[in-house]
Amino acid sequence: MRTEPTAPAQERREQQAQAATALAHPNIALIKYWGKSDERLFLPRTDSLSMTLDIFPTTTRVALAPGAGHDSVTFNGAPAPAEAHRRIVAFLELVRERAAREVRAVVDTVNTVPTGAGLASSASGFAALAVAAAAAYGLDLDATALSRLARRGSGSASRSVFGGFAVWHAGLRGGTPAQADLSSYAEAVHASARLDPALVVAVVDAGAKTVSSREAMRRTVATSPLYEPWARSSAADLADMRTALDAGDLDAVGEIAERNALGMHATMLAARPAVRYMSPASLRVLDAVLQLRRDGTAAYVTMDAGPNVKVLCRSKDADRVAAAVRDAAPGRPVHIARPGPGARLLPGERP
Ligand code: DP6
Repeated sequence: MRTEPTAPAQERREQQAQAATALAHPNIALIKYWGKSDERLFLPRTDSLSMTLDIFPTTTRVALAPGAGHDSVTFNGAPAPAEAHRRIVAFLELVRERAAREVRAVVDTVNTVPTGAGLASSASGFAALAVAAAAAYGLDLDATALSRLARRGSGSASRSVFGGFAVWHAGLRGGTPAQADLSSYAEAVHASARLDPALVVAVVDAGAKTVSSREAMRRTVATSPLYEPWARSSAADLADMRTALDAGDLDAVGEIAERNALGMHATMLAARPAVRYMSPASLRVLDAVLQLRRDGTAAYVTMDAGPNVKVLCRSKDADRVAAAVRDAAPGRPVHIARPGPGARLLPGERP
């Protein structure tokens, strides 16, 4: 028989649920998300698929602040920049609406990924925020619901809820907004253990980008004649990618990821005005990867909304690939990532 919690038990639960801390890692898309069908709901035009990394985690603590008139947000110990603050407060509004509570919060985020450098800091950031805020406000959400919620902060964050590989469904078209919202979330994807991949991340330039990914994808969808063809080919790439992951075929995974990413950059180059994230240093890394392949090492590039280059290779080749990338981009940081875990609450303040 199920008994309702007594009033003191309920109160105790609410007091315990006042603060929660979550950890999440960035993810890198092998099949890209580029273009929205609904800006307010963060619904993507296409499905995408990513690998969550084991480096550059974000840790976010959300503590409810009864009596406070507004939310306060820090990034690495300093007040968050205005735009980040605005996005986080908008996200908290959504959580408050779901929880039917008005209490404001204090959000402290520690980010180890260079912000705004096309390294998906918003993915780990909003995945950690979704998990911590849901717990602090007493929402009991499963991984699918957390993914859907994280999506509303930043589309790619929906995938960082999961470890390893994840596919984010674009969701149903043609229904009501509520149906579309419900149907767009990420879920884990099977990859054979034979794959054993590494991703070598070349931080060609850690400065903030000049055109945000949000603006760039908006402009691409609105003006690029190459957008629709890429979106169509991306659906075929996704199907091929799932087969390749299942088979643990690293060369196929790499080839598909590379063509999908370079195709996405082609859509932007054809936007009006053009958006170009590749810099001369990025191209030097792309050339080094071609040379690695000619010399018999499986290595494939992917790039996001910035000049940094990520190189997919076999785990056993990661040091050799990193050395070649360092030679091509002297003095720039190079990191080796492997598949990492999904977002999770940290113990201690678990409600
Ligand atoms: C190029 O998820 O940062 O990294 O949903 O507007 O916050 P918003 O965009 P965001 O875009 C990521 C784009 C990408 C490709 C990808 O991660 O799939």
